[in-house]
Amino acid sequence: MTNKYESLIVYFNGEFVPWEEANVHIFTPFTKYGTAVFEGIRGYWCEEAKKLRIFRLEEHMQRMETSQKIMRFDEVISAVVMCEATIELMKRNNFRTSVHIRPTAYVDGDGESSAQGPIGSFITAIPRGTPKRVETGCTAQVSSWERFSDRAMPARAKVNGNYNNSRLSGIQAKIDGYDAAILLNNRGKISEGQGMCIFLVRDGVAVTPSVTSDILESITRDTVIRLFEGMGVEVQQRDIDRSELFAAEEAFFCGTGWEITPINMVDGASIGDGSPGALTRQLQGVYFDLLFGRSTDKWSWVTTV
Ligand SMILES: Cc1ncc(COP(=O)(O)O)c(C=O)c1O
Repeated sequence: MTNKYESLIVYFNGEFVPWEEANVHIFTPFTKYGTAVFEGIRGYWCEEAKKLRIFRLEEHMQRMETSQKIMRFDEVISAVVMCEATIELMKRNNFRTSVHIRPTAYVDGDGESSAQGPIGSFITAIPRGTPKRVETGCTAQVSSWERFSDRAMPARAKVNGNYNNSRLSGIQAKIDGYDAAILLNNRGKISEGQGMCIFLVRDGVAVTPSVTSDILESITRDTVIRLFEGMGVEVQQRDIDRSELFAAEEAFFCGTGWEITPINMVDGASIGDGSPGALTRQLQGVYFDLLFGRSTDKWSWVTTV
């Protein structure tokens, strides 16, 4: 394994330990079946204030509590414990760059797939900035892989095993020459990207699949809805047909990892004029101003370390 992270401190079952000391046994249901839940959270380094600004830390940790409940874990590692541990982890690593934080709660021990405990937890954080695609926009393919139904796997929970669906659709998109996949659900309606939610703009109205469309209940999606409200833009949460992709004047992905990424083209057809749309650009401005502290955080979404 690469040792590029060897100087990192990680949080592992209640302690802060060097990277090489954080190991999980191969007999755990976590390694055997992917029985774990996790979060992806970003912290933005603000150079002027010399502070790290963690975005919606509490909401992420609360979603991780919900994911643990849905997955019937014996013990739920609380959001309060995980928030405190995250803040301490930032201090111990003394980051001076933007970071990606990844907390996990997993089934430890040597049980089989229905084991409900014991529960372990860890948090890692690595330097990570905003990818280029946020500026340039990306291309997408409507995947032949279907987003799994909530009747098969809990779509609204961030369960490690769920990500094999993301993996296969993401690989297929890459092989076919696209940057990303858009998955339809088992009703044939647009669900989400392989690791992010989607919005279209139609006649100036922002539309996004509802939370009962087999999506992850995305925190960035919620952020976008609230920012649009503040910008006076109507938002509809509803079923979206595939052909609406080609009728839209703008489209973008949103998520912690994908931030606000314009979609320039779907299945080889341009969205609008094939470059990031005006409303998407305006939203990006409002979003990044908030993350980097250039505007007022009236929702108290940012934890400053
Ligand atoms: C499958 C999936 N959908 C949507 C999202 C967006 O969720 P969030 O905005 O909470 O990061 C993610 C994670 O980033 C995801 O993995």
